[in-house]
Amino acid sequence: MAKPQQYFVGVDIGSSKVGVLVGQRGDDGGMEVVGRGLAPNRGTRRGNIVNVEATVEALKQATEEAEVMAGVEISRAYVGVAGADVRSVNSRGMVSVARKDREITRQDIRRVLEAAQSAALPSDREILHSIPQEFLVDEQGGIADPMGMLGSRLEVAVHLVTGNVTRSKTLLTCVNRAGIEVVELVFEPLATARAILTEDERELGVLLIDIGAGTAEYALVLDGEVYHSGVLPVGAGHFTNDLAMVLRTPFGEAEKIKTRHGCCLEGLVIDDTGISVPTVAGGSSRIVPKRELAGILQPRA
Ligand SMILES: Nc1ncnc2c1ncn2[C@@H]1O[C@H](COP(=O)(O)OP(=O)(O)OP(=O)(O)O)[C@@H](O)[C@H]1O
Ligand SMILES: [Mg+2]
Repeated sequence: MAKPQQYFVGVDIGSSKVGVLVGQRGDDGGMEVVGRGLAPNRGTRRGNIVNVEATVEALKQATEEAEVMAGVEISRAYVGVAGADVRSVNSRGMVSVARKDREITRQDIRRVLEAAQSAALPSDREILHSIPQEFLVDEQGGIADPMGMLGSRLEVAVHLVTGNVTRSKTLLTCVNRAGIEVVELVFEPLATARAILTEDERELGVLLIDIGAGTAEYALVLDGEVYHSGVLPVGAGHFTNDLAMVLRTPFGEAEKIKTRHGCCLEGLVIDDTGISVPTVAGGSSRIVPKRELAGILQPRA
């Protein structure tokens, strides 16, 4: 059996499910998925953990499944963060180049990045990511790595992602209680962007949206770098809730009806047959035309 260090594990604690992926470096340098575990989760709402026990249980279950499939024991993982309270801002930093010969060193780069992060941060927030968008040397921009260049003034534009300290601690606690050490917390749309966008898409500009059950996360990537990212407190679960409320049917049934027959544009409903919708408390089912379903889903969309 291969050594566990050769594996990379990602954990996603979502509002509807917990997912665990085990990846292995492929021959082409990419990541090959060798293990996958999924478990339904009732312990998280809108990306925030509201029930530690339930979340830990779901995580243990998903981890076991991934371990069996990959044939490894999982002890460390990269963990996704996606709560509705993650915020992102663009910030700038500036320093004078220290050396007399004006050659920019690693130390100057470190100092300018620190300067960009020094904007007052409330005590309940912490920096999750600080991603350089571009460096400027004596006002000339578009520089990816200024190391070794000559200049007297070094500036940087960064994308800062901050999270809520207490929420992050709760997340760490859950993961630790499932027997896993956290390598790093990663804001999910940034990880998704890294995983699925092509080099061309990143350069041309693309808005990536991950519509989850409780939240929708997004990242705007332009000129190869992240320019904006965030979380909206709405997701696919709201459509299920709307159907359950209006049709007075159990959530499980509403979820099935939504995924099988739902459509968000009334105009697209050609086949207007009726579907049988069970009522709450075991009453008799009633027949609802598909166009009526779209009439409930469209305003939410
Ligand atoms: N075919 C489909 N049509 C419409 N909605 C769907 C379909 N398949 C899945 N969904 C919805 O996607 C949601 C689950 O998405 P996902 O697994 O990305 O959420 P999550 O990561 O658990 O939640 P979050 O990211 O909000 O914390 C559910 O609300 C489900 O109803
Ligand atoms: Mg998600």
